[in-house]
Amino acid sequence: MKDIYVGLVTGNDNLKSNYFLMKVLLPAGFGDPQPGQFVMVRIVGLKDPFLSRPLSIYSFSRGKAGCIIELLYRVAGRGTGIMAGLIEGSEVEVLGPLGQSYAVDPQKKDIVFIAGGIGVAPLSLLAGYLCQTVCRDASSMTFYLGAQTADEIVGLELLRRYCYRVIVCTDDGSMGEKGQVTGIFKKDMKKFAPADTALYACGPKPMLKALAKMTGGRYMCQVSLEERMACGVGACAGCVTAIKEPAGTTAYKRVCADGPVFDLEKVIWE
Ligand SMILES: Cc1cc2nc3c(=O)[nH]c(=O)nc-3n(C[C@H](O)[C@H](O)[C@H](O)COP(=O)(O)OP(=O)(O)OC[C@H]3O[C@@H](n4cnc5c(N)ncnc54)[C@H](O)[C@@H]3O)c2cc1C
Ligand code: FES
Repeated sequence: MKDIYVGLVTGNDNLKSNYFLMKVLLPAGFGDPQPGQFVMVRIVGLKDPFLSRPLSIYSFSRGKAGCIIELLYRVAGRGTGIMAGLIEGSEVEVLGPLGQSYAVDPQKKDIVFIAGGIGVAPLSLLAGYLCQTVCRDASSMTFYLGAQTADEIVGLELLRRYCYRVIVCTDDGSMGEKGQVTGIFKKDMKKFAPADTALYACGPKPMLKALAKMTGGRYMCQVSLEERMACGVGACAGCVTAIKEPAGTTAYKRVCADGPVFDLEKVIWE
């Protein structure tokens, strides 16, 4: 069982429109997260909403005072709305790091990230990990970042530190290329040989479904899924999703504990 840590909010900046970056100082006992892992966050003392909210770990560092995690989040409803109002010195309960991380295959020559909107958060930690810990050359990493409008493109500066090519696109053309991120990637797909390329993606379900259709299982492709979560630790079965088993049968896996990262070709889209 994971511990719940009380974290101190040391920053909570409104980056643009309804996107925020929260910095939380945690005790040294908080484990080093692997890319793709998340935390369940709850505001100390708050009874409504009572349940924690899952957020990906966007960045992590360890210092003398403890650990700092950064959470990049979009105000989607009541919980994240209250979070956006937290000031420096507020306290949050943090459970984690949770879930399974993205798998890294050192044999792959090219790494391609495909993020839709706030899906940039876990992929940014992964790009940083590949760059700083695994020492992948930035030239082998290409990041496709898409959103509906320029107001929803966040986290670019950090990505440009890790990846040689960052391709931005928006549905309305207000920033970067005009079009959906899957369509923009599809135009470039032939540049990436399936045997030599690892794809990592995170974004809304229709985006991941479109990616599954266009890649047709030819690439190693891992995706992080989003489901509503209650416990975050595999205890309530509230977050199950259908996954293909090697024998061809269907298994219902818990996104919080068995995921959130899954092989794209195994996800059954309902
Ligand atoms: C593993 C994981 C990692 C996540 N990482 C991030 C992140 O880094 N940054 C970020 O901004 N968001 C992230 N999310 C989504 C985030 O958890 C939800 O936006 C948040 O819980 C909404 O809470 P709320 O109280 O503000 O909204 P609510 O009032 O509970 O809901 C508002 C709307 O959001 C939808 N919603 C709520 N929870 C989810 C969910 N888990 N998945 C999809 N839709 C949901 C609801 O159906 C509703 O339409 C992640 C989700 C998961 C499962
Ligand atoms: S949220 Fe409880 S099992 Fe996943």
